[in-house]
Amino acid sequence: MSLLERLAAQIAQTGPLTVAQYMTACLHDPRHGYYATRPAIGAAGDFLTAPMVSQMFGELIGVWAASAWRLMGEPATFRLVEMGPGDGTLMTDLLRAVRLADGFIDAADIWLVETSAPLAAQQVRNLGDNVRWAQSLDEVPDGAPLILVANELLDCLPARQFVRTSAGWAEQVVGLDGEGGLRFGLVPAGLPLPDAREGSVHEHSAMQAALGSTLGERLVRDGGAALLIDYGRDRPGFGDTLQALRRHQKVDPLACPGEADLTVHADFPAVMAAAEREGAASAILTQAAFLARLGIGERAEALVRARPDKAPSIGRQLHRLVGGDQMGELFKACCLHSPDWTPPAFEED
Ligand SMILES: C[S@@+](CC[C@H](N)C(=O)[O-])C[C@H]1O[C@@H](n2cnc3c(N)ncnc32)[C@H](O)[C@@H]1O
Repeated sequence: MSLLERLAAQIAQTGPLTVAQYMTACLHDPRHGYYATRPAIGAAGDFLTAPMVSQMFGELIGVWAASAWRLMGEPATFRLVEMGPGDGTLMTDLLRAVRLADGFIDAADIWLVETSAPLAAQQVRNLGDNVRWAQSLDEVPDGAPLILVANELLDCLPARQFVRTSAGWAEQVVGLDGEGGLRFGLVPAGLPLPDAREGSVHEHSAMQAALGSTLGERLVRDGGAALLIDYGRDRPGFGDTLQALRRHQKVDPLACPGEADLTVHADFPAVMAAAEREGAASAILTQAAFLARLGIGERAEALVRARPDKAPSIGRQLHRLVGGDQMGELFKACCLHSPDWTPPAFEED
């Protein structure tokens, strides 16, 4: 039985699923979920992420992590954590970049937080036994400052969707179309929501906000910073951002459950507000501004000087990461941190 057939049988028995329940099944169902069975990141897979675009991305995050550690007073032990590390490319590039930061590696207790068994296996192949694995952040011991990075993690944490109809807010749910397929429908919303224009779509991700709270609480207690990079909004707003990607093409999110990556935009204002409620501080930049402040222009020039024959491809990679029509503006770099300091690149102008 496919996931589509199983979900259809479940809906027939117990009623429609919220979009968040549907996302969770599509991504994490142990038998058929996308990340549980077939995650395919990279040019030959379903989607491409910034660490795959260029080594510069992970290297500059390494520069950021090493400067953060210095600004924190070079703690003798700290947790260097990556959440949702994919195939391990970002951490590999980060670790190569921080070799020059004296004492950083010796002080780092390195953890990867990963829920996908196939991706954890790839990470083991790429990173060997210098790192440890956890399935949730709670398993990473506290009691030491934290430097955490996560690229494109928030977008795979599920969200519910609400639509403002002429009769008020309704929740968008996944039901049956009568021919064995799935279709969207509306049921009365169970949440109080601020008024908006008819047709507006409001997304609410309890899991994104919960991660903001967990990180905020931990950063206040242990000190440090969390860098969350993703495509998403930097101010509250409306819009339907549910998207399924298969072999680099957008597909109908209901067409092939479990066989495509399924995402919503990161809701950075909600994540930042949740962290701030715990007493943490937060700041946000576009990916273009963040990478520029870390010196991506100079890094690209250095790579071109070393390999002039690669200048055209390095130029294309740079444009992909920072171009306003590429990832530069849509993607944001959000930093949650303990309130006693300002992490690198996030100083006020
Ligand atoms: C879109 S991929 C990004 C991979 C990598 N960070 C990159 O930029 O190439 C999402 C990653 O988050 C992981 N993931 C999804 N849900 C997760 C969760 N709840 N906790 C930890 N990791 C999760 C996936 O298995 C995958 O490694």
